[in-house]
Amino acid sequence: MQEEKKLNGHAKPVRVWCDGCYDMVHFGHANSLRQAKALGDYLVVGIHTDEEISKHKGPPVFNEQERYKMVRAIKWVDEVVEGAPYVTSLETLDKHGCDFCVHGDDITMTADGVDTYHKVKTANRYREVQRTAGVSTTDLVGRMLLLTRNHFRQGQYEYSVDSGHSSSMGQDSSARSPWTGCSQFLPTTRKLIQFSDGRSPLPTDRVVYVAGAFDLFHVGHLDFLEKARELGDFLIVGLHTDPVVNRYKGSNYPIMNLHERVLSVLACRYVSEVVIGAPYSVTKDLMDHFKVHIVAHGSTPVAPDEDGRDPFLYPKEIGKFVTLDSGNSMTTEKIVERIIRNRLEYEARNVKKEKKEMDLINAMEAQKNNSCKGDVLKISA
Ligand code: CTP
Ligand code: C5P
Repeated sequence: MQEEKKLNGHAKPVRVWCDGCYDMVHFGHANSLRQAKALGDYLVVGIHTDEEISKHKGPPVFNEQERYKMVRAIKWVDEVVEGAPYVTSLETLDKHGCDFCVHGDDITMTADGVDTYHKVKTANRYREVQRTAGVSTTDLVGRMLLLTRNHFRQGQYEYSVDSGHSSSMGQDSSARSPWTGCSQFLPTTRKLIQFSDGRSPLPTDRVVYVAGAFDLFHVGHLDFLEKARELGDFLIVGLHTDPVVNRYKGSNYPIMNLHERVLSVLACRYVSEVVIGAPYSVTKDLMDHFKVHIVAHGSTPVAPDEDGRDPFLYPKEIGKFVTLDSGNSMTTEKIVERIIRNRLEYEARNVKKEKKEMDLINAMEAQKNNSCKGDVLKISA
């Protein structure tokens, strides 16, 4: 009985395989891994090398070591296979003892336009989960390029300043793929529940509190949260609202809105709970309410609150504040700089990816009109 419960009701543990680029890991990736894990008991994620991604898709924003680390920290992942091949073969599934492969309901192709899952689909060892609408690496790159609007107001990246986070990259909407050229993300309470642990701290738990923007959740954040979690048993992350982040970061920050940042942080295995729209200053009220033992912040600079005061003044005064060195120098601004530095390459990558998808969609449409049916099993979230 106990054993059966542990195995999600399966007679023997079902091992699930997922693979991908997982570049600039976002909550869309996390949501696909969450759904994949729910189809079995043990989740193995294969991640492609930088070389493979550059060949088939264009240069990744994050290098392979960064991407491996980010995926390992997603709470539904049991194991990461480094350097997984771009085309998923039955040999790969067998080598890692996986029963089937899971992918989102978009179609991924090699540089030669071959469906990367054709082998596992033919062998009926393929399952589909619902892709999360409203977020993609391609879209996030587009949002970052928007930050440079005053410098690059030419070509296809014409847009309205007010488009904000509507994910519009200003391209002709008729040429946008419904997969990558996604519409707006619509946060729901169901999604929050699916991402949360839903557990309260035990009376004996040592509660750690950290706060910040956590925009474009990255390896620097991850290293910081890992260290923060080591300070106690229950880690609460306070996320500031978009206007608060914009007050101290300026420009078009944050790149991801509050709802998106909440899900990215909740997917991290070190995080127990998130405060949605935490006050900028850590007050006595807040510390009493969450029974916080210790407040931590990384070694990045801290902007004063609107009244000019240190937002960590109270925990410092009562001796409950610690500065942690994450040992990682990555910042959200550095990611944006990477993108802007390689702007032309990323623009070309985005256009190429969407064009490939649009060509495929048009071909599928034509096939449908000839009353041919697809044979792929589709499972909704
Ligand atoms: N995925 C998803 N929802 C998204 C984005 C990705 O479910 N919004 C899924 C993909 O369907 C795939 C997995 O995440 O199963 C890994 O995707 P990846 O190989 O990184 O590539 P892309 O789908 O191209 O991701 P992106 O569009 O973000 O570049
Ligand atoms: O800048 P942001 O508010 O997103 O940072 C959230 C937390 O992560 C802060 O405590 C910050 O100091 C920490 N951090 C870190 N190392 C990094 C990036 C952020 O310790 N490289």
